Amino acid sequence: MATPHIKAEMGDFAPAVLMPGDPKRAERIAHLLMDDAKLVNDVRGMLGFTGTYQGKPLSVMGSGMGQPSISIYATELFSQFGVERIIRVGTCGGIAPQVKVGDAVIGLGAHTDSAMNTYRIPGVHFSATASYELVRAAVDAAPEGKQVHVGTIISRDHFYLPTQTPIDVLSKYGVLGVEMEAAALYGVAAEYGKQALAVLTVSDHLMDHSADMSAEERETNFHTALDMAVAAALS
Ligand code: HPA
Repeated sequence: MATPHIKAEMGDFAPAVLMPGDPKRAERIAHLLMDDAKLVNDVRGMLGFTGTYQGKPLSVMGSGMGQPSISIYATELFSQFGVERIIRVGTCGGIAPQVKVGDAVIGLGAHTDSAMNTYRIPGVHFSATASYELVRAAVDAAPEGKQVHVGTIISRDHFYLPTQTPIDVLSKYGVLGVEMEAAALYGVAAEYGKQALAVLTVSDHLMDHSADMSAEERETNFHTALDMAVAAALS
């Protein structure tokens, strides 16, 4: 049964889906992790694959960029394709001073300047949080000697327009990094009683651009985050 954005059948997706922003990265992750990865969606080029990793079913699918895009795919996967957990694997810009380019960030909770969660529960400021079980599994899988930070992130709608909230205020509040999808993903997961997590690689730092990653480095430097995401997905 197809949905507007996914042409697949019930059973085509595994209960656990890894979700990078870039569909081409989804393809690379799928082939990196699985010998038997099969294409299950290519509507709008938003490639989705399913196979097995260490004997367990796993899917990998792109989310596109931004909160509206990931909300569409997360909603359809949770509501129509039997998906139980989505783990976003992406990049973030560093905000807190202890967060360095190349480190990994586990998004415990996601502030946002988006309106996407504003009207979910009338009269309530929705609290966009990751699923505890997935956070715990990711933290347990953190490799020895790698810098892994666990805490709040901010999911913004604009990439280019500067935030109204100064970066130093976000930093004072302990915000680790900025990306563009997690808060909405956490909101959709809560709506459907499912699980979600974002595991991110720091690709640049908003306070210090001297060590920013190139597009190529972004592509290859995400293995720590990917390993933790896989551990959470299959926990
Ligand atoms: N802003 C938003 N998303 C990002 C950034 C950023 O600086 N870096 C990586 N993803």
